Amino acid sequence: MLVELTDIRKKYDKEVLKVDKLLFQKGLIYGIIGPSGAGKSTLLRIINLLTPFNSGTYQFMGRPLPSNGQERLKLQRKMALVFQKTLLFKDSVWNNVAYGLKARGFSRSEITQRVGELLEQVGLQELAFRRADTLSGGEAQRIAIARAVAFEPHLLLLDEPTANLDPGNIELIEKMIRQLNRTKSITVVMVTHNVFQAHRIAQEVIFIHEGRIVESGPTEQIFEEPLDPRTKAFVEGRMIY
Ligand SMILES: Nc1ncnc2c1ncn2[C@@H]1O[C@H](COP(=O)(O)OP(=O)(O)OP(=O)(O)O)[C@@H](O)[C@H]1O
Ligand SMILES: [Mg+2]
Repeated sequence: MLVELTDIRKKYDKEVLKVDKLLFQKGLIYGIIGPSGAGKSTLLRIINLLTPFNSGTYQFMGRPLPSNGQERLKLQRKMALVFQKTLLFKDSVWNNVAYGLKARGFSRSEITQRVGELLEQVGLQELAFRRADTLSGGEAQRIAIARAVAFEPHLLLLDEPTANLDPGNIELIEKMIRQLNRTKSITVVMVTHNVFQAHRIAQEVIFIHEGRIVESGPTEQIFEEPLDPRTKAFVEGRMIY
């Protein structure tokens, strides 16, 4: 098991997340769906160790969360998180993708090889020496994902990565995510408002409502034979929120 969450609780003013059990298996693509405010982003940030939780246990590859800060940082570096709004550095596309590799001490030749390969994979080689702040939204998001996976994380966490993009760019990014999952066996957890997108891309779907996991399972099951009426309402677009 890549990630295992047990009895995780998160409270701000009120409790916003209560996860009894959640398992992420290596190599799969997961879709997290649910209405606004359900706790999807909070869950991703907890998985990424950006947000601390109040109680419960978190295991990564069968190991409990290290208490030592240095060890935690190492663990955090096995994951990458990409948000809806991309923040690229005001530098060349090439340097944006190379950044994490430099920080992790990769050799110059290794960096050259990997960045070249990644840009080719996302189909943006011709933009390598453009300044990142001149890219379109879709190009920028593709570069953000390339940058995130440059150091080959075990887990790629995506929070609404295609919100505000046009259908052409959405298709490109979905293709890219599938390809990264397949060729580099990166496990993907993607939060999306769009149930159609979850249907297209995910093998497993998790439906969150009011901080609870209402239902999770193979995509076909969640869409074709949901057990909970709230899941059914949500995937059929009948849930008002
Ligand atoms: N830093 C914070 N301080 C206080 N409350 C917070 C904080 N972050 C999130 N919340 C609350 O936690 C709940 C879950 O928020 P979260 O952002 O995880 O929802 P979401 O499912 O990602 O929603 P959306 O689809 O709109 O992005 C919300 O009620 C939100 O107001
Ligand atoms: Mg969110």
